[in-house]
Amino acid sequence: MPTSHHIPSYLTQHDIGPWGVYLEQIDRVTPYLGSLAPLVETLKRPKLILAVDVPIRRDDGTIAHFEGYRVQHNTARGPGKGGVRFHQSVTLSEVMALSAWMTIKNAAVNVPYGGAKGGIRVDPKTLSRGELERMTRRYTSEIGIIIGPTKDIPAPDVNTNEQIMAWMMDTYSMNAGSTVSGVVTGKPVSLGGSLGRQAATGRGLYVVACEAAVRSGMDIKGARIAIQGFGNVGGVAARLFAEAGAKVVAVQDHAGTVVRESGLDIPALLAYAGERGTVAGFAAADALHDQDAFWSVDCDILVPAALEQQITASNADQIRAKIIVEGANGPTTPAADDILHDKGVLIVPDVIANAGGVTVSYFEWVQDFSSFFWTEEEINQRLARIMREAFGAVWQLAKERKVSLRTAAFIVGCSRVLQAHEMRGLYP
Ligand SMILES: NC(=O)c1ccc[n+]([C@@H]2O[C@H](COP(=O)([O-])OP(=O)(O)OC[C@H]3O[C@@H](n4cnc5c(N)ncnc54)[C@H](O)[C@@H]3O)[C@@H](O)[C@H]2O)c1
Repeated sequence: MPTSHHIPSYLTQHDIGPWGVYLEQIDRVTPYLGSLAPLVETLKRPKLILAVDVPIRRDDGTIAHFEGYRVQHNTARGPGKGGVRFHQSVTLSEVMALSAWMTIKNAAVNVPYGGAKGGIRVDPKTLSRGELERMTRRYTSEIGIIIGPTKDIPAPDVNTNEQIMAWMMDTYSMNAGSTVSGVVTGKPVSLGGSLGRQAATGRGLYVVACEAAVRSGMDIKGARIAIQGFGNVGGVAARLFAEAGAKVVAVQDHAGTVVRESGLDIPALLAYAGERGTVAGFAAADALHDQDAFWSVDCDILVPAALEQQITASNADQIRAKIIVEGANGPTTPAADDILHDKGVLIVPDVIANAGGVTVSYFEWVQDFSSFFWTEEEINQRLARIMREAFGAVWQLAKERKVSLRTAAFIVGCSRVLQAHEMRGLYP
């Protein structure tokens, strides 16, 4: 963890959490930023943090309070953009880091947004549907003063989906007095959502995984894939890998790990997990009882697509994959990065690998503004083109500067953000 930084008083000084990982990544890229390096301090401080109390009436008549956040890390290149997470382990440090990774990601793939993120510290599985709706609406109302289609546009993340986005859009619209569909993305298609948005992150991940495989001399057909997280990102990626003839040999979620040497039946596993809420107990597979054993599964491509700080100094050594494609945000710590680098493992970083979601969110926002909607084919083609171009540019830069793909992606992202700062100047 970096010690040379100013750690704001509102974070726990001795354990700053995911924000510390982000700061260390910024330290690593700074020597490559040339004349922009003196401006880097601005990336180490979120522009705006809003912490809110979210009280709701429970079904039994009692009142419960939840901790909610919206952080706008940087808006130099455009409005804030980033998901909303409902999870029991949400902290301010986590939301700050996630918002900062959105800044880098949006700049790395060159969509005209800054970075933002939101979250509520809650296990949504403990709420009824009515409680979930009331919590979502109250949270939206509380953060309503800083979000909006030209200010900050939320989207789905862990444990949030199209329904949550529909409630957020409706709440914001009710307060505004007119329907404002562009305030969130990842909405249902019937409410101004975009075709292809739901699958976009997994699809984008699959596209860059194929690019990385080709450049590494690996055939996707027959490649062995292990995936942590079987939700929106991991589930779609698994389906696309399987459709391309790859063998998904291991899947882990919050409740269990299933493995099958000859490849899991992904459509059957998706149907099972859709009904049960977990892959645990899936009959046509072997169960791995030790969750940590997942990391040593023999595979060619490993896709962490659950939460941050999963690949650490304590398990990086066990990893047998040749390529890691980061579906989750911040799944690999800097110490694990170094271990994997020494082992010759290629890491396609989150800020490129999972940028498909925000890319199609951008398409959704554009479609909402013009009230003119594109076909799914157009969306998937444009998505694939942006992902390939962004990956190609980062790959090229990594070769030229002899750095990792993560550092290269951060060079591209940070340079664009800092150039925007330089050109805009410091107000007043
Ligand atoms: N949804 C998007 O468009 C999007 C875009 C970019 C990045 N991401 C990132 O991808 C990751 C997953 O997001 P999602 O939208 O798929 O969420 P999701 O809620 O749809 O799925 C999360 C999955 O992770 C699993 N999981 C949770 N805790 C776990 C643990 N401790 N061990 C193993 N598995 C665990 C859950 O069981 C579930 O299968 C997050 O890091 C998110 O920030 C999502």
